[in-house]
Amino acid sequence: MKRVVSGIKPTGDVTLGNYIGAMRRWGEMSANPEKEHFFFVPNLHALTVRPDPAELKRMSRSAVAWLLACGVDHDHSYIFMQSQVPAHSELTWILNNYTTLGELNRMTQFKDKAGRAGSEGQLVGLYDYPVMMAADILLYDAEEVPVGEDQKQHVELTRDIATRFNNLYGDTFVVPQPTVQKEGARIMNLQDPTKKMSKRDLDDSGNILLDDDEKTIEKKILKAVTDSGSAVATGADKPALTNMLVIMSVLGGKSIEDLELQYAGRGYGEFKQDLADLVVHTIKPLRKVHDQYMKEGSDKIDSALKHGWWRASELANAKLTRVKDKLGLL
Ligand code: AMP
Ligand code: TRP
Repeated sequence: MKRVVSGIKPTGDVTLGNYIGAMRRWGEMSANPEKEHFFFVPNLHALTVRPDPAELKRMSRSAVAWLLACGVDHDHSYIFMQSQVPAHSELTWILNNYTTLGELNRMTQFKDKAGRAGSEGQLVGLYDYPVMMAADILLYDAEEVPVGEDQKQHVELTRDIATRFNNLYGDTFVVPQPTVQKEGARIMNLQDPTKKMSKRDLDDSGNILLDDDEKTIEKKILKAVTDSGSAVATGADKPALTNMLVIMSVLGGKSIEDLELQYAGRGYGEFKQDLADLVVHTIKPLRKVHDQYMKEGSDKIDSALKHGWWRASELANAKLTRVKDKLGLL
């Protein structure tokens, strides 16, 4: 059976960008019983930001609750916690020996994060993170990895590592394909549309969190920056409006061209109010389900993780044994 793998890091509260670029699609995909779907929580990847332990626990459970709320149905799809399947760490170490410094130096996410500070003071974990991501994918023979735009380069590196290993030791890994949706693969910050909407900003006035209440969502959208001029239209000189139109198009199911026509001659105010209503309307039912699963006494999260752990371990351990055999590891 074909397999699909993707993950969401528990490094902060899930954003509307995560939902539009990834999780919304994961819910739809996992309804297809002809493929096995694995949507996991890469909590080992989260260590690169040295989170507070209690917060890490809370965010990890919350990520599972959001996955369930987005419709990742765990009867024929699996949710699991990365740290509960030790094969991920073990394969990472092995794959470190099939990845070069040159390759990791080219990863734009590392360059962005190391950024102004340079690489000297950066953690090895952050640098090595794409290798662990390769292990996450290759353990499951995933053919497809549905991600937002920012993760495409990491999946391409995974392809190179898999091909290199296969060439040296014979067919071992399936070479995966990243799938990035056409619209909404990079939702931008509402206060700075040159920046990706992200979980980890100290100032979250430009990031909509799925956890935000209705009033907060409305305020963030009504206060979103706009572009010069007054037309509700897309364009290279209109990054803010382009971003908001993409959000409205994906969530409302109307094409951007139709929306431009619909709002022609109408001001930013009316457009923003309609967008706020649409976002609130979309998130509200998800939050209700999420909050229900997070309540004390609900065992939904634990039972989903147990079900996922069982299948993930079975596949990951078998793959790791095969790799060790090939390498002469007793
Ligand atoms: P992360 O929050 O980095 O764990 O991302 C989880 C998934 O959401 C990945 O597939 C990302 O590519 C996707 N994603 C994160 N931020 C955005 C964004 N601003 N727009 C679209 N997709 C995003
Ligand atoms: N690096 C991904 C992100 O930041 C999360 C991730 C870790 C992932 N392992 C993965 C995504 C494997 C897809 C497949 O979003």
